[in-house]
Formats: sequence, structure tokens, C-alpha cells
Amino acid sequence: MKINEDIEKARGFLKDYIRLETDFSQTDQNLGIEPPPVQKPYTVEKQRVMLPKPQEWKNINDKGIVSAIKNRRSQRKYSNESLSLEELSFLLWATQGVKKNLGSTVLRNVPSAGNRHPFETYICISNVGVLAQGIYRYLPLEHELLFEFAVADMEGKITDATMGQFFVSTAPAVFVWTAIPYRTEWRYSVASYKVIAIDAGHVCQNLYLACEAIGAGACAIAAYNQKLMDELIKVDGTEEFTVYLSPVGKV
Ligand SMILES: Cc1cc2nc3c(=O)[nH]c(=O)nc-3n(C[C@H](O)[C@H](O)[C@H](O)COP(=O)(O)O)c2cc1C
Repeated sequence: MKINEDIEKARGFLKDYIRLETDFSQTDQNLGIEPPPVQKPYTVEKQRVMLPKPQEWKNINDKGIVSAIKNRRSQRKYSNESLSLEELSFLLWATQGVKKNLGSTVLRNVPSAGNRHPFETYICISNVGVLAQGIYRYLPLEHELLFEFAVADMEGKITDATMGQFFVSTAPAVFVWTAIPYRTEWRYSVASYKVIAIDAGHVCQNLYLACEAIGAGACAIAAYNQKLMDELIKVDGTEEFTVYLSPVGKV
């Protein structure tokens, strides 16, 4: 492959020269600006669903990290079985759950550069317990689900938004991770984007491993239509946009 200017420039994303080029004295953090909220605000009129807390779980089997790593693979075929609310609670806890609330920051079950945790988790739910079909958002601070809205022909829209990857729409739940880049930019300014992408990998890996404990499977999806996916979950595409997703179902 001929290395042209475009490739050289695009490869730069993976390198860390930007750290030396960035004037960190001018970041919003160092200018004394308040940090953005650790969780996207929501209106109290929206319906919320309590999720079983870790100490209340009854059917989450700790299969052991060695077998989880050994058996993990991308699963694209799911049984018709629903996921229980407890199982969804476990998967959300594993991927974005809060361990400790420190006020302006939180420690979670996944690592994040500078502990900035730039993600929100939306879940397209079609078969989880008794939940109505639709788009939900995880509220890690409360460990609750926020019902965002119902969607007509959600399966068709998921297929279109994943460039025809029909299997995604057959899953009882599809996790869609958005980034709110300012959470990271507040500290790292233009040196934020590589670490946001790396952060997303940790989140999805925890989903894969947690699935192993409940007889479920996941499949990381990076091939999606940006506009259609952002429209499906109704995010603005500028201050918040989809970066990664994964269907989840029993296998
Ligand atoms: C960043 C990333 C993006 C991926 N995107 C897709 C995708 O869009 N569609 C898909 O079917 N699989 C996708 N995969 C899954 C890979 O195809 C899969 O991990 C790879 O084939 C190895 O298989 P394994 O996960 O079972 O070990 C993606 C995986 C990663 C890590």
C-alpha cells in the first residue's frame, strides 16, 4: 500500500504527538470552568425503571474470569429467550456501573482516561422482562433505566442503521454507546479522541465477558450509519453521538 498524505494524517490519530502539541494550560479545566455532569441530565416526567441492585441479584452466576475469557466470542445468533431485568441490570453494571460517587467524578467498573467516562448507554429493548419495547437510557448514578421513547418498526430501523446487519435487530437488547466528548475535552482538549476510542473498547469488552456469566453473547459493532443511528436514539450528532454498539441475547 502506498502511504499517501491522507493515510499518514489518519494514522496520526493512533499516535500521541498531539500530547506534546497541546497547550494544556488552556484546557477548560485549567481555566477554572466547572466540569460537565458525569451523567446526562434527564427530565423527571420521564418514566424510570428501578434495576435490581448487585446485592439483590439471585441468578447471576460467577462463572470465573478464566472461563469467561476462554469462551468469549462474537455471537451473532440469539435464542428467542428474553433477558431478565436482573440480567440487564448486571450487564449495565458491568459496562458502566458506578462503584463510588466522588461528587464531580465517579469511579466505575471500567477504566477511563483521566476518569472522565465520556459515554452514555442507550438500550434498544425489544425483549427484556416485562419492559415495553423502545429506547431506554441507563442512569448509572441511580442504577435505573430511563424510558426515552417507543419506536415504530425499531427492528427495521436498527437494520438500516447498522448497514443491513440484520442479526443486530434480532437481539432482545442492543446496547448503543454515545460519547459526550466534552467530558474528556474539558481536561484534554484536542488530545481527547484517541483515549475516548480506547475507553469504548474497555466498555464493550466488559459486556462480552459479563455475557459469559449469564449464557448470553454480544457482538461489537463499529460498522453503522452515523446519521441513522444518532436519529434512532435521538442524539444531536455534535455534542453527543454514537461511537459503538453491541447486540446482546441468550445463546
Ligand atoms: C472494533 C470492532 C468492530 C467490530 N465491528 C463489527 C461489525 O460491525 N459487525 C460484525 O459482525 N462484527 C464486528 N466485530 C466483531 C469482529 O468481527 C470479531 O471480534 C472478530 O471477527 C473476531 O471474532 P471473535 O470476537 O469471535 O473472537 C467488531 C469487533 C471489534 C473489536
